[in-house]
Amino acid sequence: MGRILLLILVILVSQINVQAHTFTIGEHDFFLDGQPFVIRCGEIHFPRVPREYWRHRLQMCKAMGLNTVCVYLFWNFHEWQEGRYDWSGQADAAEFCRIAQQEGLWVMLRPGPYSCAEWEMGGLPWWLLKNDKINLRSRDPAFLNPAVRYMKEVGRVLGPLQITRGGPILMVQVENEYGSYGKDAAYMGALRQALIDGGFDTPLFACNPQGAIANGRRSDLFQVVNFGANAAAKSFETLRHFQKTGPLMNGEYYPAWFDMWGRKHRTGPVEPIVADIDYMLKNRHSFSIYMAHGGTSFGLWAGADRPFSPDTSSYDYDAPISEAGWVTPKFNAIRQVLARGETPPAPPPQNPVMTVKPFELKEAASVFENLPAPVEDETPRTMEFYNQSRGCTLYRATLPAGPAGALTIKEVHDFAWIFLDGKSVGVMDRRRQSYHVDLPERAAAARLDILVEAMGRVNFGREVFDRKGIHGPVRFAKSEVKGWKIYPLSLDAQELASLKFGPGAPGPAFWRGSFQLEKAGDTFLDLRTWSKGVAWVNGHCLGRFWDIGPTQTMYCPGPWLRHGGNEIVILDLIGPRRPEMAGLEKPILDELRPALDFSRAARAGGAFSAGGVPPVIQGSFTSSDQWQEINFARPTKGRYLCLEALDAQDGKQTASVAELDALDAKRETISKAGWKILWADSEEHGDGDAENVLDGQPSSSWITAPGTVFPHRVVIDLGDGAEISGIRYLPGNIKDFRVYVSEMPFGLTPRN
Ligand code: GLA
Repeated sequence: MGRILLLILVILVSQINVQAHTFTIGEHDFFLDGQPFVIRCGEIHFPRVPREYWRHRLQMCKAMGLNTVCVYLFWNFHEWQEGRYDWSGQADAAEFCRIAQQEGLWVMLRPGPYSCAEWEMGGLPWWLLKNDKINLRSRDPAFLNPAVRYMKEVGRVLGPLQITRGGPILMVQVENEYGSYGKDAAYMGALRQALIDGGFDTPLFACNPQGAIANGRRSDLFQVVNFGANAAAKSFETLRHFQKTGPLMNGEYYPAWFDMWGRKHRTGPVEPIVADIDYMLKNRHSFSIYMAHGGTSFGLWAGADRPFSPDTSSYDYDAPISEAGWVTPKFNAIRQVLARGETPPAPPPQNPVMTVKPFELKEAASVFENLPAPVEDETPRTMEFYNQSRGCTLYRATLPAGPAGALTIKEVHDFAWIFLDGKSVGVMDRRRQSYHVDLPERAAAARLDILVEAMGRVNFGREVFDRKGIHGPVRFAKSEVKGWKIYPLSLDAQELASLKFGPGAPGPAFWRGSFQLEKAGDTFLDLRTWSKGVAWVNGHCLGRFWDIGPTQTMYCPGPWLRHGGNEIVILDLIGPRRPEMAGLEKPILDELRPALDFSRAARAGGAFSAGGVPPVIQGSFTSSDQWQEINFARPTKGRYLCLEALDAQDGKQTASVAELDALDAKRETISKAGWKILWADSEEHGDGDAENVLDGQPSSSWITAPGTVFPHRVVIDLGDGAEISGIRYLPGNIKDFRVYVSEMPFGLTPRN
């Protein structure tokens, strides 16, 4: 009897909760329980924060003055194996939402299926790529069916946490910046319907940067607009143009930016952020700071920018809450603005941080001596074909005795170290599209080993079709190398457990060491004497490291360490300069060491000359910040594309371009996957690299260096060449321009 009464009571209480809150979108405002409500939100990704620290970081968000957090779900984090969903441990999204609610925060949920976020394949599961005909992010049933199934699963797990049922979830996003990728409103409609069928009855929305709002737009999806510093007024004006009523909301406001290996550490000044947030608050615009707390892309989850620029493991983002959860000057400045209405709680105490005394890693397990059972194949194929999700793969074949010659591969994703009879002879590097290594003469048949490292799959643009490993064929001296053994190195717990360690060894190897602690605390492992690879502490994968920087340390959370003995394993694909380790009290996030890059991105030599080739078009860009499409009189074939800037909109000598696309005969954007910057007359290194015109990011630009003058030119090598019918240009400040297309590299000398 007592039990039944209790049950009735529980049902009654949950009913009260159901009626407790409502959230709606009105003519000018959001309404929470019938009252106008401004969403003061910040983004945080629970997989990027150790579960033990979720509450701490959410308390930090609350203390900054936020009333809501925005959360992506990365589909691949919850369905890494097809059909097997995981919502446990670090993947316990429901628990994260419950803690947010307990800490007085609402939740905006962004389940994907695509997310971007500098995350492996933008959150899409790798196994989709096993189908070589699949069309990602489209109505292709090979994509849509598993995506819809996943969206419904999200409904099952998180539907009960909607505000309509007493939970913290206010709104749910459909897809992510889809307008930057495609135009199919029916695709957005199918995903919207999947969420509704999955049981979501809160408002659904879509986000886009202002230039992409029109693409794939639907009036039954509320739109929000994404932008960085100094763009608020203009972006909201564009949003209002498309969405005549409703509150204005920013979906991602960038307080700085993410880092990529080999590129300068990004930071963003505090003043414009404070001014923008102040502006949004005064105008009752809602916003979401992306990121409020970036955290760390632990494991092998970091993604890569396009065409291929892998992201660092640190996702500090120069966000107001630092990677290790610390208060920063940006935090305090934002808190001050947000505290004007109501005083937020004080930030929770910082988690203890400690040093670890230097120690040596004495044991090693050579990759070559710890190979799993191979698969045999006539011609090597990508990892997905062998059902390998990620990690490294060793491809092995035999080369007969004979003269020296060139080893070439069509493409390798992403790095390939080449060994002949165990001796290192060269490296292939996707960043430079360099897939050519000269091999020496062989007196007898020799063992050819190609050790491929896959970094995270590209998370943005068409390049998300990023199959890893060797895209064959492999040729030596022009004939195809056949008869391969393929060894998958998945770098998972099972592989680590099977390693046989011995004394230190040169070449690619796992290294092992241990250290004692009196008391566990956060620390930053100093990787400066190591080259390139992956690190684990007590079985937790901390992520990838690379000596070229800018990140030189790895955030190691205290809860993953323990009193007494702790074990560290490091896979170094090149080998350490000294196999030692220490824990520091502060991270090193901004130390670039380009001299250590094994294949430094080198620009072509020589001087630019159009060589009598007339421009395919010349004209003037308009003074606007919108995409501008320039059509050629007729399609032109060529391998090299040059944009020549003659002057600037502001009359000064600096040229800048945010993005440059080429269009094919059907006026579709051509994939930039095989593209690279051949040359630019001038670049502000670190900040304004010419690669920024290829990265698909509106907020990063090629910027010429101070002291140089017009004309400014950037030359792109399209790899295979293409038939181009026009360009799309995202400003930028160029006024008058010319475009050249040629089969020849404009008198420049490409470096291999
Ligand atoms: C876009 C995406 C985000 C993230 C940012 C860059 O706006 O929507 O997921 O990738 O860029 O950090």
